[in-house]
Amino acid sequence: MFGNPIRVELDRFGVKLRPPKKSEMENLAELFSSMEVQRYTLGTYAVTSEKEQEWYDKVSKEQDSVLWAIVPDGTDSCIGITSLHAIHPLWGSCTSGIVIADRSYWGKGVAYRSHLARIWYAAKTLNRTSIQTSVRVPNEASLKALLKVGYRVSGKYERSVFREGSYLDTYLLSWLNPWKIKLLYPMGSPPELKESLKKARQALGLAEKSVKFL
Ligand SMILES: CC(C)(COP(=O)(O)OP(=O)(O)OC[C@H]1O[C@@H](n2cnc3c(N)ncnc32)[C@H](O)[C@@H]1OP(=O)(O)O)[C@@H](O)C(=O)NCCC(=O)NCCS
Repeated sequence: MFGNPIRVELDRFGVKLRPPKKSEMENLAELFSSMEVQRYTLGTYAVTSEKEQEWYDKVSKEQDSVLWAIVPDGTDSCIGITSLHAIHPLWGSCTSGIVIADRSYWGKGVAYRSHLARIWYAAKTLNRTSIQTSVRVPNEASLKALLKVGYRVSGKYERSVFREGSYLDTYLLSWLNPWKIKLLYPMGSPPELKESLKKARQALGLAEKSVKFL
């Protein structure tokens, strides 16, 4: 499924999340094919336009996923995809992923803004209790963007992938919904969650002011 259109704006720079269009798959295929983009993802091969269109058809029907095209101010094009997957009907959990495929938009706070919108949607619309994800240890930008909105490193896979001559470790991260923390920890949350819960609460507070449905 695709998510409703959302806009997030901070410091006069906005990012729109909207449903991707099938016609955008050709450009995305070209951008996704770069190893510079795939380095810390599950991707290993170049992607064709046909494969991306098949992927589009598949994900548009998935009942337990929500995806958006990422469209920053200054363009009408989809420059990447952000998503929630494995949206469990009973447990309240889901997983998340992001790829900003157009490298000219890296380092401009697009991931941070997209994450704010995504936690807001996960908490307020999908009623999620947690979001789980993973990040290759050398992927500093991805890790920082997630930590800023209250994700926490909760574990690590050691030497879990091989890339360009080296084995890499993978961090496991969890985002716990601070509005549901009493449900998750009826006896009180463990002290090691204090900092990430504080950040998650602040991020949701900021999102309440800076994110809106279009
Ligand atoms: C990883 C990725 C999502 C980051 O997106 P981004 O929009 O460039 O990230 P942001 O601009 O929001 O930056 C997030 C933080 O990382 C920092 N950062 C940006 N580029 C960095 C780099 N190359 N090295 C270290 N830190 C970096 C930023 O300064 C910011 O931290 P700050 O707020 O403390 O200053 C993007 O580069 C991407 O899609 N890469 C390819 C696919 C991928 O790796 N996806 C994630 C898989 S887990």
